[in-house]
Amino acid sequence: MTSDVQMITLPNGTSAWLVTGYEAAQQALSDRRLSKVLKAEELGLEPELAGSMLRMMMFLDPPDHTRLRRLISATFTARRVEALRPRIEQMTAEMLDAIAAHETVDLIKTFAYPLPLQVICELLGVPVEDRIEFRDWSAIVAAGPARQHEMPHALARVLKRIRALLADRTAHPGDDLLSGLLAAREEDDRLSEDELTSMVFMLLIAGHETTVNLIGNGVFVLLDDRDRWIRLRDEPELLPTAIEEFIRYESPVATATQRRTTEAIELGGRSIPAGSRVMVSLAEANRDGARFQDAGELRLDRAQNPHLGFGHGLHYCLGAPLARLQGQVVFTALMTRFPHLELAVPAEEVGRRSDFQRGVTRLPVRLHGG
Ligand code: HEM
Repeated sequence: MTSDVQMITLPNGTSAWLVTGYEAAQQALSDRRLSKVLKAEELGLEPELAGSMLRMMMFLDPPDHTRLRRLISATFTARRVEALRPRIEQMTAEMLDAIAAHETVDLIKTFAYPLPLQVICELLGVPVEDRIEFRDWSAIVAAGPARQHEMPHALARVLKRIRALLADRTAHPGDDLLSGLLAAREEDDRLSEDELTSMVFMLLIAGHETTVNLIGNGVFVLLDDRDRWIRLRDEPELLPTAIEEFIRYESPVATATQRRTTEAIELGGRSIPAGSRVMVSLAEANRDGARFQDAGELRLDRAQNPHLGFGHGLHYCLGAPLARLQGQVVFTALMTRFPHLELAVPAEEVGRRSDFQRGVTRLPVRLHGG
């Protein structure tokens, strides 16, 4: 039996503690002795990116984290998310209309990838004609090492666009999230321009590919065993539990962002010294047989599902309600519109990635299958 917490050596030769058991993962995610403040080198960040990234609340501890999280939570409310539903439904329908005449499409390229980006732009109130920098940025990030050299330029463009948007909203406030953030005050505590820029950039980074993976992984597991697709299509009331199960079984964020011990701790029966790097595998924790019955099986009707796919503790995913809403709209639309959807290639030929993220990169489907 492997341990719930093990020391591993990373490709760059440094060591880290990898947490794979559910209980130890839950503890690691909520233990204040594990700090999220890391240096740019530790995150493997290019210097150009480091400045904007390290100001994001996902890389901060209290009290800095508390302050930023409170300010954005006041604006990114459940009401604001729910208000997006009709627009998400409309954008989903338009994208599905645009592909409906085809026999076979790559569902990632034509739908699962572009939709969540449009949703974030909609949330932020980015006008359609100004979305190009956001698209370019996300495409370069998604391409990985092959397009890494383009990053600095794309980053500069996207940050410039965000600053221009902020200036515009300062002059002409609307009812979008950006205007809400600009107005957010806590006593005299306003967000600085740099903080606001990083906050918007964070939503783009945290909210795009994760949601692409939720859609891609979900559609793949349903079509890989078509009885699942048929069952969910015929029993749509199972959708809420099915979405949680997709996130448990194929966790879009396979490994949570890193942490570092500020003092020596005990975790999963191991003594971890102060100053150690800790990585939490949400994907492994979510398949821990000690916590989940039949952990290795996908159950669309799993009622008890305390998965860690959205994290746990102070840094629990801020966008979870929006991700769930997109899941509901998307799977409902796909099953209604294309009830006979099927894979167009053998499952082994579907493009998949499993590193820090777990997702489907290419998903050829027949829209009007048998
Ligand atoms: C944090 C997963 C969608 C915004 C997190 C964390 C996880 C996660 C695991 C915690 C990371 C850690 O503790 O190191 C997911 C999954 C998603 C999703 C699986 C889709 C299925 C979104 C969306 C948004 C978003 C749509 C916003 C538009 C954030 C933010 C944080 C976060 C801002 C940082 C919270 C903090 O540090 O306090 N997410 N996420 N996420 N997520 Fe998500």
